[in-house]
Amino acid sequence: MDIKALGYVGFGAPDPQQWLKYGTEIIGAMPARAVPGESWGIPMDPTSGPASGGSGVAEDGSVYLKFDDRQWRVGIHPSEDNAGIMYIGLEVDGVVELEAAVAELKAAGYEAELGTEEQARNRAVTGIAYTRDPAGNSIELFYGACEDFKFRSPLDMSFKMGDMGVGHINLIVSELQPNKDFYIRVLGFKLSDYIGFGPDMSANFYHCNRRHHSIGLMRVGPFNGVHHLMLECNAIDDVLKCYERVLDAGINVTSTLGRHVNDNMLSFYMSSPFGFEVEIGFDGYEVDDNWRPREFCEGDLWGHRGLTAEAITESAEKIRQ
Ligand SMILES: [Fe+2]
Repeated sequence: MDIKALGYVGFGAPDPQQWLKYGTEIIGAMPARAVPGESWGIPMDPTSGPASGGSGVAEDGSVYLKFDDRQWRVGIHPSEDNAGIMYIGLEVDGVVELEAAVAELKAAGYEAELGTEEQARNRAVTGIAYTRDPAGNSIELFYGACEDFKFRSPLDMSFKMGDMGVGHINLIVSELQPNKDFYIRVLGFKLSDYIGFGPDMSANFYHCNRRHHSIGLMRVGPFNGVHHLMLECNAIDDVLKCYERVLDAGINVTSTLGRHVNDNMLSFYMSSPFGFEVEIGFDGYEVDDNWRPREFCEGDLWGHRGLTAEAITESAEKIRQ
């Protein structure tokens, strides 16, 4: 299978409005100009625009955030508790590849089914299919996402997304091998590198395009969850300005500024309103066909104080699923 990018991600939270505030006032995302599934109106009639009016809020209370030309990249849906990740959207080239992906998944023994046109519209894509990774995460395969352009960050931020996708998401899995098999052997992700930090405990990083990794699989104990979502900026000042806003707002910085050894990302980590962490970074490596997987033995070139195996385990236990 040839996955092109981590196209979108969706989370559950008791109060998605909290994320609208956090996403726009701290990170610098834009509320979606239209929410997925609603009509854009008639192009020649300026009074007939989307019912959500650019608020980013859907009728059911879901919040959608825009970071680049795509209509939306991050969706937050009302749920009783911090449900963590609700779906991971992985992009394929088109309808032929989508149908082939479903057949391939089924042949490999995974549940998979094509979605309806209405289900696709509800994610603002042209075609969609559903499966699940061995950790239980809902995986949505899609093609033909809506691009509505006109991204204007309320905080003058610029994000490195486009064909490289949202960024990366680091999943915590209770069992590494079946998840590695799913992402590598079935979905076709390639190993960029990995680091071990205890018996049967390691972090493994996989790419599907130029971004050093779009998916991370980490085992810190017998539970599943998500450790962090990374969003990459186009300028170092964007990271530092965001860091200032985080300090001003009194948001918990879980890891200070630093630069990772493996993906070269200059970044910091903070608590998000969901419980899991958000990494804001710049300058991550881009890989090409000549990249060879490697094992690395130290986490950081400098900084990233707070990002220890113990801290990762502690934060993972808080959001265990
Ligand atoms: Fe990361």
